[in-house]
Amino acid sequence: CRNQGIPFFAYMVLEQGALTGMYSPENPLPRGSSRAENYNGMLPQLKALTDELASIGRSQNAAAPDVATAWAIAKGTTPIIGVTKPHYIDSLVRASSITLTSDDTAALEALADAANVNTRGFWEQEM
Ligand SMILES: NC(=O)c1ccc[n+]([C@@H]2O[C@H](COP(=O)([O-])OP(=O)(O)OC[C@H]3O[C@@H](n4cnc5c(N)ncnc54)[C@H](OP(=O)(O)O)[C@@H]3O)[C@@H](O)[C@H]2O)c1
Repeated sequence: CRNQGIPFFAYMVLEQGALTGMYSPENPLPRGSSRAENYNGMLPQLKALTDELASIGRSQNAAAPDVATAWAIAKGTTPIIGVTKPHYIDSLVRASSITLTSDDTAALEALADAANVNTRGFWEQEM
């Protein structure tokens, strides 16, 4: 897409809330929802990643979801974020001005790999 100048829209960048750091085994995603079913079991494995997202954010007056969105922007995508509260718009504004270093990106990607979770939908084929 990049080579052909085609915009790439990235969805579920926040993994339906699981990458925001707002949810944990102590404070899981709302029970009975499909996102709880998909993500609550993997929240312990995602903690190191969400902690690093928050840590990178602290140095830029931003929060974990802002950094996750900034990562998707840094990859050249246009993220589609599921905004459910008005103040999440502020997060999108912050995300657009975050600068991620190559070390930040490498650290996030290493932690994402180490989490060793599979969140791919059945409709998402290997490319
Ligand atoms: N075409 C496809 O195959 C496909 C597949 C999947 C998704 N999508 C689309 O992609 C869009 C995004 O997906 P999604 O909404 O499922 O997932 P998402 O954007 O990864 O996550 C949305 C959730 O993250 C939380 N959130 C969003 N912004 C936040 C912020 N700034 N701070 C803290 N929490 C924040 C909210 O949780 P709370 O509500 O709990 O606060 C929200 O429900 C949707 O429009 C969806 O329809 C398309």
